[in-house]
Amino acid sequence: MKDAAPQTILLSDYTPFGYQIESVHLTFKLAPHATRVLSRIAFAPNPEASDGTFFLHGEELKLISARIDGAEVTPDVTDTGLTCEVPEGAFAWEAEVEIDPANNTALEGLYVSNGMYCTQCEAEGFRKITYYPDRPDVMATFTVRVESDLPVMLSNGNPGTSGEGWAEWHDPWPKPAYLFALVAGELEAHSDSFTTMEGRDVALNLYVRPGDLGKCAFGMEALKRSMTWDEEVYGRAYDLDVFNIVAVDDFNMGAMENKGLNIFNSAAVLASPETATDANFERIEAIIAHEYFHNWTGNRITCRDWFQLCLKEGLTVFRDAQFTADVRSEPVKRISDVIDLRARQFPEDQGPLSHPVRPDRYQEINNFYTATVYEKGAEVIGMLKRLVGDDGYAKGCALYFDRHDGEACTIEDWLAVFEEATGRDLTQFKRWYTQSGTPRLSVSEAWQEAPDQVQGLDQRTALGTCTLTFRQTTPPDANQSEKLPQVLPIAVGLLDADGTEVVPTQLLEMTETEQSFSFEGLMAKPVPSILRGFSAPVVLAREQTTEERAFLLAHDTDPFNRWEAGRGLARETLVAMVTQGAAPGGAYLDGLSAVVTDRALDPAYRALMLGVPGASELAQVLFEAGHTPDPDAIHDAHETLRQATATQLQDALPGLYAANQVDGPYSPDAESAGKRALANAALGLITRLDSGAQAQAQYDAADNMTQQLAAFSCLLLAKKGEAATQAFYDQWHDDRLVIDKWFSLQMIHAAPEDAVATAERLTTHKDFDVKNPNRFRATLGAFAMNHAGFHRADGSGYALMSDWLIKLDALNPQTTARMCTVFQTWRRYDAQRQGHAQAALERLLAKPDLSRDTSEMITRILKA
Ligand code: PHE
Ligand code: ZN
Repeated sequence: MKDAAPQTILLSDYTPFGYQIESVHLTFKLAPHATRVLSRIAFAPNPEASDGTFFLHGEELKLISARIDGAEVTPDVTDTGLTCEVPEGAFAWEAEVEIDPANNTALEGLYVSNGMYCTQCEAEGFRKITYYPDRPDVMATFTVRVESDLPVMLSNGNPGTSGEGWAEWHDPWPKPAYLFALVAGELEAHSDSFTTMEGRDVALNLYVRPGDLGKCAFGMEALKRSMTWDEEVYGRAYDLDVFNIVAVDDFNMGAMENKGLNIFNSAAVLASPETATDANFERIEAIIAHEYFHNWTGNRITCRDWFQLCLKEGLTVFRDAQFTADVRSEPVKRISDVIDLRARQFPEDQGPLSHPVRPDRYQEINNFYTATVYEKGAEVIGMLKRLVGDDGYAKGCALYFDRHDGEACTIEDWLAVFEEATGRDLTQFKRWYTQSGTPRLSVSEAWQEAPDQVQGLDQRTALGTCTLTFRQTTPPDANQSEKLPQVLPIAVGLLDADGTEVVPTQLLEMTETEQSFSFEGLMAKPVPSILRGFSAPVVLAREQTTEERAFLLAHDTDPFNRWEAGRGLARETLVAMVTQGAAPGGAYLDGLSAVVTDRALDPAYRALMLGVPGASELAQVLFEAGHTPDPDAIHDAHETLRQATATQLQDALPGLYAANQVDGPYSPDAESAGKRALANAALGLITRLDSGAQAQAQYDAADNMTQQLAAFSCLLLAKKGEAATQAFYDQWHDDRLVIDKWFSLQMIHAAPEDAVATAERLTTHKDFDVKNPNRFRATLGAFAMNHAGFHRADGSGYALMSDWLIKLDALNPQTTARMCTVFQTWRRYDAQRQGHAQAALERLLAKPDLSRDTSEMITRILKA
């Protein structure tokens, strides 16, 4: 277990390491319980450092021997690393350590998954492999020799020589240790090739366990699309002779961008029509792109320290979102991202875990791979691009790649290139990186009819002025007691009473706490469409009449805001249902009918229109409006609204369902996926009218996972899922990724009063495996998504979660700590629930030997 005494690391304490590394040579003699790692590292004093202390990180290592310039030395070893007397000037360090990959359930460092050796080093896992200055600003070239009797042995860079029982790899690009990777196993490759714009022939391999070769084709195509896109849009080419991807079943995160050797959670790369849904295909494409794009934004230019994590993550998420928008649909991608931002980042930023996009302190860096660093970090890049313009953005990026290639950088370096390229002062903009919290933006409108100044003009030419007055506030939090105004790019367009755009989208730049913008020369009072494209990640608090929302739902020329108008109506009607027992709003239902049956609109877009704010989002909205959210009332309101929607759309549903069936062999392209999404949304509503007859028919006929899973969901919701649950299991029990879906759907669709019992049943199922993060998330993570089930008034949901987190913490601290976020909103609820949540959290905190990861999370969540 990790050191229990919490130590806080501060950004302001940064100092460079005392040594540079010329080269690293590693030899791995692989054995499940006693792998030997030999290192030979050429150190030289760092002229930029003032402190020459020689400290190497190292955890859970057995030091066998150490030598400096060939002479045996005896370093001072603690459980976090070692120090040693070293000569002045350059010297060669050699060490041999022993590690136990087969017992590594934390999945950091070198571990064994299903007989395959694999590594995960970001952020600080390399120190579990050998003694090393495990920090991203120490970059070196690596030469690696792997010895084992396994057929495939891989590491970073280009392949070197190999022979019976050994293989060598050399990575010519200096890199930090967190990008190191090694894989060895009985693997098979799906291979292809790519010629870069610079004329380099690159061998592409996707390595999988035997049996999974049929699930590789899509990932490989996505990789090639990503390589082409980064050349065309950012001018960035790949820089090694091989690009390898390996799929592994036990993995804490989605995937990892190790130089030349990406390692993927198998759920984030393996797909076939029979086993993966449209949503899986889209996610896989995005993650492949994300990891590939890291080769430039992350690997060639890396982070000086872990406080700068958003430098690579926010930027790379932004790049993968641009890619998805380009290869699929821009509005659909934007809407999906905003739904996700509100579901995951807003609660984080408005609760006890709030932190700036660039945090300035941490105890355990693993706890900062957050929606704020990733998704808000990407929003910040989007705002920067909006403010400096496409051209300024392109120039700034070009300068960044040019100037900083091969370096470990900071947010200051990143912003400086845009200041230089565009002449713009980004001092205030930088607050987006340093201030936490979601700004609330309120707006009021004023219309002034100009008096007829010119005689003889008739009424129609009298020109008026529309003034929008904005006010931004960010509530104080533990990070800053006073929040300064941020630069907000607010995209606005004006519509006339017919829905014609009278002022096309303009970007207003708000820099003050309160600021007005006027639009002159208008014929008549317009309807403003504000925050188009969600141009800034704020909560727009806009007093708006139902009529105006309905008007924008029918007419807004900005596709994002048109969707947003419908979302606002859905939210408004749900809030009225919960707080006043109102009936579902007619304006919402009428407006929705018109949009979803409008064949001129993209089916994927119409499918999104049929979504409603989730229970957790609604709880947040209610909480902000001064109500105590009641999870059961929210659940009932959702049910009632869906039923009312089904009734309203009754006549249209069969046509909608039929018109969006996709004939022919399955293809995961955006257009086909959009049609299936709409047809399956219709099926969800049809199920409320026919108690599952259509869903059963679809289930029986399905020849792809999208259709099968959608039908299975409907049957579970209609409480007609018993036969399908058995049939699904019988059909798929050998496929781990499909069985994950089986676990999570039963959890998500359990009735609130059955959720705890369902979780108890599923966690005692023989296929439940606490050590496999995907299975754990599919079960317990899905349980927490069952809002009214997890938040049972008697506290049984919290207690169950706490029991499992206690068990998991002993095995896998990182996944445990991430899962703790399900408790981050506990203070929204009533006193009884709060009491139960607090007790569950305190029980977890009291666990002996609790990991540093979990301890930090629980402490922050409990803090007032
Ligand atoms: N750097 C990885 C990514 O963004 C995420 C990751 C972090 C994976 C830590 C593993 C461990 O894609
Ligand atoms: Zn990333």
